[in-house]
Amino acid sequence: MATYDVHGRSAIVTGAGSGIGRSIALLLAANGTAVLVNDLNREHADQVVAEITEAGGTAAASPGDATDTGWIEASVAEANALAPLKIAVNNAGIGGPSALIGGYPDDGWRKVIDINLTAVFLNMKAQLPAIAANGGGAVVNMASILGSVGFANSSAYVAAKHGVVGLTKNAALEYAAQGVRVNSVGPGFIKTPLIDASLDADAQQFLVGKHPIGRLGEPDEVAALTVFLASDAASFITGSYHLVDGGYTAL
Ligand code: NAI
Repeated sequence: MATYDVHGRSAIVTGAGSGIGRSIALLLAANGTAVLVNDLNREHADQVVAEITEAGGTAAASPGDATDTGWIEASVAEANALAPLKIAVNNAGIGGPSALIGGYPDDGWRKVIDINLTAVFLNMKAQLPAIAANGGGAVVNMASILGSVGFANSSAYVAAKHGVVGLTKNAALEYAAQGVRVNSVGPGFIKTPLIDASLDADAQQFLVGKHPIGRLGEPDEVAALTVFLASDAASFITGSYHLVDGGYTAL
């Protein structure tokens, strides 16, 4: 297993009870980070904490809604109680409705923007000053390939993920002098419960054909890039958008 220089600090990972967030939490913990495991689903957050502690790592569950400012304020204090907060991975997200813009539901638009974009802003509002106060660190925001290209019937998701890429650049400019690096990650389609819940086998097979590597990605492949960006080895990398997409956007 590759190793990453992320020990002796804590990390907040939102949406860490499943899929990509779970893999990131496990990889950070395996490399010595004390992880605050957030998820809306308390049971899933507890399961990830149990996996980490059984493997000899340090973690605490922090169930809650990553859009909620009360939870956000508490999360920074909870992470700092584990070890100095130096890493945040804003990963929680949803797929949202599938419809043309002409028929896209207003409430679905607002919900997707709220979770996939506004929550990233609200979390960074608390995280960036806290990480700067601890001497610096790194934030990684989970965008998507749909942060740089469109996908019919997914206007809210595409708009939110493009927003994450831009917001990440601004955060990087504003906090570079205080030692906080901020980057975004753009995964292609990754085999997670989100994909299994929203796409049938035929749709998944169609998407396989859009990835020149000839398969969907695995959560661990996104975690490897994310934890590298969070690590001290990425010390000159900030404000940028990093694809892990099996060649999807090269087509
Ligand atoms: P997933 O559905 O497996 O996991 C997401 C987790 O976030 C779930 O455990 C869910 O309970 C939690 N969550 C949802 N809303 C929340 C909220 N408001 N507060 C706290 N937790 C919340 O999804 P997956 O696939 O692991 O996605 C993670 C991130 O990666 C998302 O931001 C998604 O947009 C992004 N992504 C996923 C891709 C994929 O193909 N699976 C591709 C590109 C990006």
